[in-house]
Formats: sequence, C-alpha cells, structure tokens
Amino acid sequence: MRILLVNGPNLNTLGSREPEVYGRTTLPEIVAAVTARATELGADVRAFQANGEGEIIDWLQREQGDAAGLVINAGALTHYSIALRDAVAACGMPVVEVHISNVWRREEFRHVSLLSPVVTGAIVGLGAQGYLLALEALVRIIKGTE
Ligand code: DQA
Repeated sequence: MRILLVNGPNLNTLGSREPEVYGRTTLPEIVAAVTARATELGADVRAFQANGEGEIIDWLQREQGDAAGLVINAGALTHYSIALRDAVAACGMPVVEVHISNVWRREEFRHVSLLSPVVTGAIVGLGAQGYLLALEALVRIIKGTE
C-alpha cells in the first residue's frame, strides 16, 4: 500500500518559517515520522515537496498510478490553484488535506479551500501531528475499516 505525501510552497522551510504559526518541526522530521508510522501500518510513503504548482501536478500524475492514497498540504495553492484542484480531483484515490495552522482563525483569504470539495476529508489546525492523523485515517479508509 503506497501513500503519497505532498507538500506545497514554503513548506520546505518548516522549522524556521513563522514558528509561532507553524511550530518548530521541520519537513524532514515530518516525513520521517509519517514514514515510520506508515511502516507500522503496512504502508510505504513517497514524499514530495515543491514550490511550483506545475511540478506538483507533474509529480502527482507520474505517481498516482501506483498509489492507494494521498496526504496533501498544498500550502497557499490551496486557496487559489484550480489546476491543482483538478489534478487532485482526477487522482483516483482517497485524499486527506492537511493544514498545520487553523486556517479558520487566520486571514479571510485562507478560509477558501479549492481542494476541500474534492478531497475525502481534512485535518486542520492540529500542528505537525495532523500529518500522522491524516495517514492513520487514510490507511483505515483504504483498508475499508472506516
Ligand atoms: C498552510 C496554510 C496556508 O494558508 C499557508 O499558505 C501555508 C500553510 C498550513 O499548513 O497551515 O503555506 O497550508
């Protein structure tokens, strides 16, 4: 069971980026934690981060054929990328959207997610642990136990 883990623009700087908003956990730490938990759950993880919309869409189109589920934090692309939404809608697998911060408590432009209407579910505002919660939910959905 392969799980794709996608992070969008600026998430490569987690750890030093606005730590009062996003915490101090780095992206490599998140990827390592998700990978370790996935192994326990009998899954393997392919992780990708890019700052460009096109790179993410290209990668998703390449990888989706061999994958069972997708965890995605699209960063700011969440709020405006119709192209990424279309790619996610077409990926053919369950998808959990993650946001580290509680976007509902922030600026109004963050209250719109173009992804939410095309994903299975979302985990918002619970910090870096949101990625682990997303993974666990996704595996249950794929196994049909949820
Ligand atoms: C984010 C929230 C977005 O609004 C922001 O642009 C990000 C990170 C989050 O994880 O809280 O880059 O997706």
